[in-house]
Amino acid sequence: MNWGISIKMKLTTRLINISFRGFTSKELDRVLAIEHLAYDTPWSKTQFINSLNNPQALASLLVVDGQVLGYFVALRALDSADLLNICIHPDHQQQGLGVQLFDHLVQQLQTLNLDTIFIEVRVSNKSALSFYQTLGFEVIAKRKKYYSNLEDAKILRLQMA
Ligand SMILES: CC(C)(COP(=O)(O)OP(=O)(O)OC[C@H]1O[C@@H](n2cnc3c(N)ncnc32)[C@H](O)[C@@H]1OP(=O)(O)O)[C@@H](O)C(=O)NCCC(=O)NCCS
Repeated sequence: MNWGISIKMKLTTRLINISFRGFTSKELDRVLAIEHLAYDTPWSKTQFINSLNNPQALASLLVVDGQVLGYFVALRALDSADLLNICIHPDHQQQGLGVQLFDHLVQQLQTLNLDTIFIEVRVSNKSALSFYQTLGFEVIAKRKKYYSNLEDAKILRLQMA
């Protein structure tokens, strides 16, 4: 982790085998199963396919002991990236995997010389807001009635440089 934030790594004390691989449409069934467990309003298969087909997409899977347990989808812009979706299987949350997955995204962005990440979060998603706060994100704006259920969104930014 090299963007100036110190986060305790619970995983260092456990013998688990974490790896990352590219997220392709072949993995959609597994990802959709996790997506439906993790969100009240999950992305559809079409949303994933459209995002994965975008040439600016960055998308990875987190694999633990051979099993896909998490994923992210981000879109590159000129000098920043929008994190569109990051998710850990509900049975494996709060074990440090989200931080590991996010760190993998950061490493990809640094390779591309992108130093800013934006994300929109539902105001009701307290665990995600806490997660992003831990990572050093700051709230930069609020969008009223942003979602289809009229819920507000918070816009968060992480400046890594
Ligand atoms: C957000 C998410 C990816 C975090 O992944 P995770 O593996 O559970 O997170 P980690 O274990 O790495 O947690 C890192 C830190 O984030 C914060 N955090 C994570 N989950 C939290 C929760 N449920 N409540 C409060 N804080 C939480 C904590 O500060 C935690 O550190 P700590 O446990 O040492 O206190 C995961 O909760 C998730 O997949 N949620 C459903 C999908 C989602 O809402 N994605 C975000 C869309 S904007």
